[in-house]
Amino acid sequence: MDLSPFRILLEKKCGLVFENEKTAILETGIRTRMATRSIRTPLRYLSLLSAEREEFGRLVDLLTINETYFYRDPIHFALLAGRIVPELLGRGEISEKIRILSAGCSSGEEAYSVLIALVERFGREVLDRITVIGVDIDSTAISAAREGVFGKRSFRDFPADLLKKYFEENSSGYYRIHPWLRDSVQFLPLNLVSGEYPSEIQDSDVIFYRNVSIYFSQDVRNDIFRRLAGILNLGGHLFVSPAETFFYNRGILSLVTADGVFFYRNEPFEMRQEARKPNRFPRASVARKNGFCGEPRTVRLPTTEISVSYGKHSLSAPDAGLRSRAASQACPAMEEPPRALIEDACRLVEAGSHEEALRNLDMLLADFPLSLEAHTVKGNILLNLSRLDEARMSFGMALEIDRFCLEASFFLGMIARLQEDEEAALRRFREAVYIRPSCWPAHFFLAETYRERGELEHARREYELILKILTKGGFSRHGLASLPLAFSDKQLETLCHRKLQSVMGERYGA
Ligand SMILES: C[S@@+](CC[C@H](N)C(=O)[O-])C[C@H]1O[C@@H](n2cnc3c(N)ncnc32)[C@H](O)[C@@H]1O
Repeated sequence: MDLSPFRILLEKKCGLVFENEKTAILETGIRTRMATRSIRTPLRYLSLLSAEREEFGRLVDLLTINETYFYRDPIHFALLAGRIVPELLGRGEISEKIRILSAGCSSGEEAYSVLIALVERFGREVLDRITVIGVDIDSTAISAAREGVFGKRSFRDFPADLLKKYFEENSSGYYRIHPWLRDSVQFLPLNLVSGEYPSEIQDSDVIFYRNVSIYFSQDVRNDIFRRLAGILNLGGHLFVSPAETFFYNRGILSLVTADGVFFYRNEPFEMRQEARKPNRFPRASVARKNGFCGEPRTVRLPTTEISVSYGKHSLSAPDAGLRSRAASQACPAMEEPPRALIEDACRLVEAGSHEEALRNLDMLLADFPLSLEAHTVKGNILLNLSRLDEARMSFGMALEIDRFCLEASFFLGMIARLQEDEEAALRRFREAVYIRPSCWPAHFFLAETYRERGELEHARREYELILKILTKGGFSRHGLASLPLAFSDKQLETLCHRKLQSVMGERYGA
């Protein structure tokens, strides 16, 4: 079957792209609908699609993947309830409700999770202060969302006590959400790609737009992202899934981080202006004079180093990829020292001359204070020598230079673990898996830390994620060049299975 006219139609009308492994989904969907409508030729079905809106909708319903569940990426809901909504509630305009949008809501689990997290944190009264809206192109999913009845799979990551509290089990083993919660969410069919966005979703304060853009081409992604940014209030937040975090043109919204989670924020205009001011790039000598080689301090880099005050917390909105690139364009000599010099330091370490290696790296850093590699190598040496505070400074500096430096986040997590600061460890490992979802060492230590804290459900999830990564052949794609590995993928797999078994045992009190 020639699928190209169908591909063109679907991409044009709703941004859906079916290439490579998704070709089979498209073909099966078309054949199923042709059989239902007793149509023999693809050409006739194509003209039917153009003529009948309803038939087009049916096909789209078949082709979209509605996979979703309650409390998917629970950290997003914790951040919403623990930080973002308290801040919004404190802004004082009592008459204005906080508007939260689940864009691509599927059968409603995400929108209801928002409500449950907020009711858990603030009590039922919060319903007078918020509006939650879910939209999706798939009208069947919208009807299911409105109905609010869910099968067991929807609760795979949902605490059992909350299931009991907010749902009622029916005789067929399905769970119905309590009507007062169901009636607090509005669900609307909407194609995010085309047409006007309705008034109900304008001026949103928080948008969940997670696991939707995986269907789209980069152009469509950028387009929808721009449209969603357009309906986001100033200071508003937009969540995407960890795998989608780096899809977007960051000139539209600022990428910020809190508690190891990356999300987007619509920065106030003055801050953007501030960010565009001419650069004050630190020259080596100036950097030295400012004590750059001693105590780590904030390095002002070109482009968008934005720090915003966010309640008691300070969020920084760096744009590291761009920053590093801009830095090298502004002053190439400042970027990285010749590789041979770093390699020399590594050779010294191998020969056991750690102090000499550190001295050489310090000299190197005097001339190349923004060398990411020199800071991370230095951090690794210090970590091996158990000089944890100094190692933390080196990795901290690396993170100042490049907010998305995987090594820095990961090893800062390891240091926090060694210093028994579980919160910081979790935050850093979460950051690392955001930067690189396939970084299984970060998943592993997330799991271990969760387990030690008795958070067994989270621990289980992380071990399972590692197994998934291994199934896809991702053992060597963890992204940590300096991590010594003394075991094989098979050994890691066995270890994770064992860990999983024992977590399940602990969970059920065995
Ligand atoms: C995998 S589900 C994600 C559900 C939920 N956001 C989550 O993260 O669990 C993706 C949803 O995006 C919807 N979707 C795909 N293309 C869309 C479009 N052009 N406009 C609106 N929704 C769309 C699909 O129908 C599907 O329900």
